[in-house]
Amino acid sequence: MPPRITPLVDPDAIPSSHRLAWLASGTDCVPLGSAFLRLFTKEGQTHLAELDVTVHPAERRQGVGTALLDAAIGAALRERRRAVVAQAPQGSPGSGFLAARGFREVLTLTYARLEPAGIDLGRITRIAEQPHPGYHLTAWTGVVPTELAVTYAASRCAMDDMPMGDTDYGTVVWDVERVVAAAEAIANRGDTLYTVAAVDASISAIVGFSELVLPGDGKGDGRKGDGQHYGTAVLPAHRGHGLGLWMKAKAILHAHGLHPELALLTDTAANNTPMLRVNDALGYRPTHTAVEYQLDL
Ligand SMILES: CC(C)(COP(=O)(O)OP(=O)(O)OC[C@H]1O[C@@H](n2cnc3c(N)ncnc32)[C@H](O)[C@@H]1OP(=O)(O)O)[C@@H](O)C(=O)NCCC(=O)NCCS
Repeated sequence: MPPRITPLVDPDAIPSSHRLAWLASGTDCVPLGSAFLRLFTKEGQTHLAELDVTVHPAERRQGVGTALLDAAIGAALRERRRAVVAQAPQGSPGSGFLAARGFREVLTLTYARLEPAGIDLGRITRIAEQPHPGYHLTAWTGVVPTELAVTYAASRCAMDDMPMGDTDYGTVVWDVERVVAAAEAIANRGDTLYTVAAVDASISAIVGFSELVLPGDGKGDGRKGDGQHYGTAVLPAHRGHGLGLWMKAKAILHAHGLHPELALLTDTAANNTPMLRVNDALGYRPTHTAVEYQLDL
């Protein structure tokens, strides 16, 4: 018998997106699996939705995933989305499922992890303290300080040429309001955003940034999970000066100083050689490969 699909109310609304959700259940209302469809609302990304389907391992290969997918695709079409993306570990059941259901591979991602024991403090401190003539580093926790906000928002376009394979990811338009809202959303869910920025001293403008999200309140109380690097990017005119390595080294020192036991995670497009080199030089070790799939509607 086909599963029953119930739409759920998902309260997880953030400024950049909201989610639709469905529960699949069998006879006697036994839950079998769930699906979430994230609808991006940021300017430049309103064509895109992101899918996350999970079926209980004991209930797989009986069409539950397909029934959840059908509900999500129907909603994406009603929401006039042009593309649905989904991620699964390479070679996993999720990969087989997405390929069988018409998704195509658009991007390969390398996940890497810096274990606390793998942090070479002497080396990372030397990298962080190495002078870069014409530049200095600044850093803040939470929302960007007012005096830096305008050039920080402008520097976010450094992400625009990040290798994204064939993903129809769109180009997000950033302004001060949007960077403030993104930082507030992280704080509201109970995590701490720490940002390191490289400043071109001649014009007092931010030309690169590296974001690290620390779980919990950043003070160690109630902290769960690992630290997660978000974006690291340098404006094209300032690349090739080691600013990415410099900023990320400073972020590691900050996290390690607060939580010496914290592991840090990062994910990078498998063809993004400059970023992979930075991660390797800092001691991150690859853990697994994931594939981003896309269905064009
Ligand atoms: C992916 C997942 C949701 C599939 O759920 P499911 O209920 O088993 O999916 P279905 O029964 O509808 O499978 C539909 C088709 O997908 C393909 N498929 C599903 N699992 C597969 C696997 N392990 N290997 C290869 N192909 C697979 C098959 O073609 C299958 O049809 P068939 O069983 O007639 O051969 C489930 O394996 C899961 O929860 N995985 C972990 C989360 C995940 O990776 N989600 C996908 C990314 S969002």
